Amino acid sequence: MLSDKIKSLLQEVATLEAHDAQELENLRIKYLSKKGIVNELMGEFRSVAPEQKREIGMLLNELKTALQERINTLRATLATAEDDLSDLDLTRTPYPIRLGTRHPLTIVKNEIIDIFSRLGFAMADGPEVEDDWHVFGSMNFADDHPARDMQDTFFVEQHPDIVLRTHTSSVQSRVMEKTQPPIRVICPGRVYRNEAISARAHCFFHQVEGLYVDKDVSFTDLKQVLLTFAREMFGADTKIRLRPSYFPFTEPSAEMDISCNICGGKGCGFCKHTGWVEILGCGMVDPNVLEANGIDSSIYKGYAFGMGVERITNLKYQVKDLRMFSENDVRFLDEFMAAN
Ligand code: PHE
Repeated sequence: MLSDKIKSLLQEVATLEAHDAQELENLRIKYLSKKGIVNELMGEFRSVAPEQKREIGMLLNELKTALQERINTLRATLATAEDDLSDLDLTRTPYPIRLGTRHPLTIVKNEIIDIFSRLGFAMADGPEVEDDWHVFGSMNFADDHPARDMQDTFFVEQHPDIVLRTHTSSVQSRVMEKTQPPIRVICPGRVYRNEAISARAHCFFHQVEGLYVDKDVSFTDLKQVLLTFAREMFGADTKIRLRPSYFPFTEPSAEMDISCNICGGKGCGFCKHTGWVEILGCGMVDPNVLEANGIDSSIYKGYAFGMGVERITNLKYQVKDLRMFSENDVRFLDEFMAAN
């Protein structure tokens, strides 16, 4: 019977295979060409009894569609197989995928930010090309103050008022001029100084400065925050020591040393056998600075601190030469893979 014949052909469809273009073409000719099986069945269909026409007609259509789909699938499979294999050597060792690493300065900067953000400090940002006012004027540097020289400033040619910022204190100024206390920010960023490049100095480096302005802020608060920072950064046994110092923008001012974390305070080459290494400058914000930035110094007080990220990184990872940080030598950078 015609319907049985069609049904068995339908089952055959899924088993059809072609290993190359010729075999595929042969299949097409066998089933779908003018003289192919489907057309032959169409011929037989004409003499089918009218009451069966509907059922058998549907079966025939089904067969035709199934055959077309099967042939299309086989054609697609053959095409991809040919593409892929033409120039692919499946036995070759794959190229290793090179993963990037975070820069050591970024790792340490993030760690510093993380510690201070847990203490409630928010992040603040500002421009690297700055005006004299935000870098010096607002920070209580007198016009002829030798500290301007002390910081070896790069000036923008023909614009003596425009400089590359020598410290991120300029960001403190920008925050104070637009926010009233309480202010609690840290300002991470790159700074520039005109120094001869050597293992111990570079013409740019990175700082994180902190500023806290509120009522009743005391030196004790500053010391406690810095002690917490030192212990979080260098370990719970770390000791700190504050030495009197001078900055135009703080009064009183201090420099902070930590017990050398390389020799544990016993004395080594790194700490020049003193057991201590300097890591930051700090002090109570000079009232002149508060006033210059629009904050009433009879109501508010503040403390500020600033540290070099390179210095902290040297202490953590004992990088001997500052130039390593900006040479992009992957052998150096790869060493920080695990710290990422
Ligand atoms: N701005 C100082 C510097 O660049 C660091 C500092 C910041 C010192 C805040 C004290 C208070 O050297």
